[in-house]
Amino acid sequence: MSDRRDFMGMALGGFAGLGALGALYAAKRTWDPLPSVKAGGFTTLDLSNVPENTLVVEKWRGKPVLIIKVPKNAKPNSAPNGHNENAYDDKRLVTVGGHKYMIVIGLCTHLGCIPDYFPEKNKFICPCHGGQFNAAGEVLKAPPPSPLVIPPFKITGTKVVLGEEGPEYKKLLAAGVVS
Ligand code: FES
Repeated sequence: MSDRRDFMGMALGGFAGLGALGALYAAKRTWDPLPSVKAGGFTTLDLSNVPENTLVVEKWRGKPVLIIKVPKNAKPNSAPNGHNENAYDDKRLVTVGGHKYMIVIGLCTHLGCIPDYFPEKNKFICPCHGGQFNAAGEVLKAPPPSPLVIPPFKITGTKVVLGEEGPEYKKLLAAGVVS
């Protein structure tokens, strides 16, 4: 009888172990980076065909990255407080192949929702709690506590390599635009 109990105990223990392994495997699969990211963690984007003032959504390390090519006639931000709704804040823009771009991680800095872009208003509105950002990613309306985050990048011609800290990104770091 005790042999049978021992066998049942071992069998149950084995099933529990398999279950735990399965759960671990599922968790690992969920948290694994995408295959394209595994090759060094960099994503290279060619911006040469990006249309003006149109939201382009890419993916980098499992996060959405939002890109907007600033229209040529757009006025830089001239508001004294630096938070003008319909203007672009030059210091947060990235120049690639002679054009200016906003490149940010598309997660609201309040609780991480993905904000929607309204090109006719040049601003983002977060669907979760109504936070707003201008087209340079600066906060226009709370609750987001800080601007949309600029990911590390390196510029090579008309291409941007996300995940690498090039000289342009280091300048933003030195200027305190990113941290
Ligand atoms: S998550 Fe965007 S305003 Fe709350």
